[in-house]
Amino acid sequence: MSLGKRNICKSVCLSLALVVAVAVFQRSLTPSQFLEGTPPPTPEPQDAQNPTGGHLVNPDDFWKRSKGLVTLTHAASQEPQAWDVTTSNCSANVNLTHQSWFQALEPRFQQFLLYRHCRYFPMLLNHPEKCTGDVYLLVVIKSVITQHDRREAIRQTWGREREAAGGGRGAVRTLFLLGTASKQEERAHYQQLLAYEDRLYGDILQWDFLDSFFNLTLKEIHFLKWFDIYCPNVRFIFKGDDDVYVNPTNLLEFLADRRPQEDLFVGDVLKHAKPIRNKDNKYYIPGALYSKSNYPPYAGGGGFLMAGCLARRLHHACDTVELFPIDDVFLGMCLEVLGVYPAAHTGFKTFGISRNRNSRMNKEPCFFRSMLVVHKLLPTELLAMWGLVHSNLTCSRKLQML
Ligand SMILES: *[C@@H]1O[C@H](CO)[C@@H](O)[C@H](O)[C@H]1NC(C)=O
Ligand SMILES: *[C@@H]1O[C@H](CO)[C@@H](O)[C@H](O)[C@H]1NC(C)=O
Ligand SMILES: *[C@@H]1O[C@H](CO)[C@@H](O)[C@H](O)[C@H]1NC(C)=O
Ligand SMILES: *[C@@H]1O[C@H](CO)[C@@H](O)[C@H](O)[C@H]1NC(C)=O
Repeated sequence: MSLGKRNICKSVCLSLALVVAVAVFQRSLTPSQFLEGTPPPTPEPQDAQNPTGGHLVNPDDFWKRSKGLVTLTHAASQEPQAWDVTTSNCSANVNLTHQSWFQALEPRFQQFLLYRHCRYFPMLLNHPEKCTGDVYLLVVIKSVITQHDRREAIRQTWGREREAAGGGRGAVRTLFLLGTASKQEERAHYQQLLAYEDRLYGDILQWDFLDSFFNLTLKEIHFLKWFDIYCPNVRFIFKGDDDVYVNPTNLLEFLADRRPQEDLFVGDVLKHAKPIRNKDNKYYIPGALYSKSNYPPYAGGGGFLMAGCLARRLHHACDTVELFPIDDVFLGMCLEVLGVYPAAHTGFKTFGISRNRNSRMNKEPCFFRSMLVVHKLLPTELLAMWGLVHSNLTCSRKLQML
């Protein structure tokens, strides 16, 4: 069965690749198509080759256009396929409020359940062009509107895009995934700044849902749906948090002998994890929401790798699973639907190298050089560690073992 599905996936990939090739050709005729309705005031010739280019086209002009720039929802309306959710009319499921088990829940779980049926929201910032061409690895990072400094540090370090992944492999591209500001007072000020940032870097996907902890699962399914629409030929995805250290050289080396068709899902995998029933814990889950004693195997959301073909199947699998407030557990549930087991790799330290926060290892560049993903660093720490790892570092073999 899974073989048949894989073949379908392959042929779908192939036919979509054709469609995209046509779309790329069309876009090459109208490079600013994705900014439809807001053409750049001074179209520069390099834009044609680099629509995501990180350079600024007349910065002053941006702030004069007060409205309209942030809504790129219909940007890809001429594409054969595009984001098809254009209104968010999500009303609370009041059916629940009459039930006693619901009334007994903590308010945050009540809010989660009231809106659990609202699965997809419109896009505020989109980049349909991001996956065009030969993209080998797409790096996607969960971010929130106020954490601009983290995005900046990542762009300067492990999130830097490259035209070739080496060994004849295609490009490495980077995207940040965002919702809307969770606090009302942040919304007005930050939204325009975010649109400006996106104008500079062209690397932000934003959907019209509140960026809250329990809505991280929405981010997961929105990205998978987006990927299924716009990225038919991307081979691999790295998905991570904005407070991790990633070693792209090691990631690419790890992927070198992997095939995009295999069911690759690798990270810091937890097996037989039990739902936390302590109400003071951030990850507390009441029995009414999940009654089984164990979660399915899942990879810590700090950073994991998956194959593009699997991501497309995962999108459809997730559509059959009710939303769960913990996003990495939710993905484990989707994998379970597909019968795919996430693979553990010791190079993913999404729970930190050492549980002891003060451990010397957490500051040791030689460890970072030998790892794939390490949790967790502030932007300044990330920049400093990146500098150290990329200096003339002499590491003993013993240190590299771990
Ligand atoms: C949103 O939903 C409500 C109730 O379901 C309905 O009355 C209203 O017309 C809808 N609005 C839009 C813009 O679809
Ligand atoms: C609420 O209950 C009604 C009647 O049983 C049902 O038609 C409707 O779909 C329910 N609403 C939601 C959001 O589940
Ligand atoms: C998730 O986002 C939606 C849309 O903005 C919002 O209505 C809902 O309350 C949010 N849910 C949580 C748990 O924050
Ligand atoms: C590293 O060493 C090489 C040769 O040993 C030298 O050319 C280079 O400048 C050094 N780089 C740094 C950042 O010190």
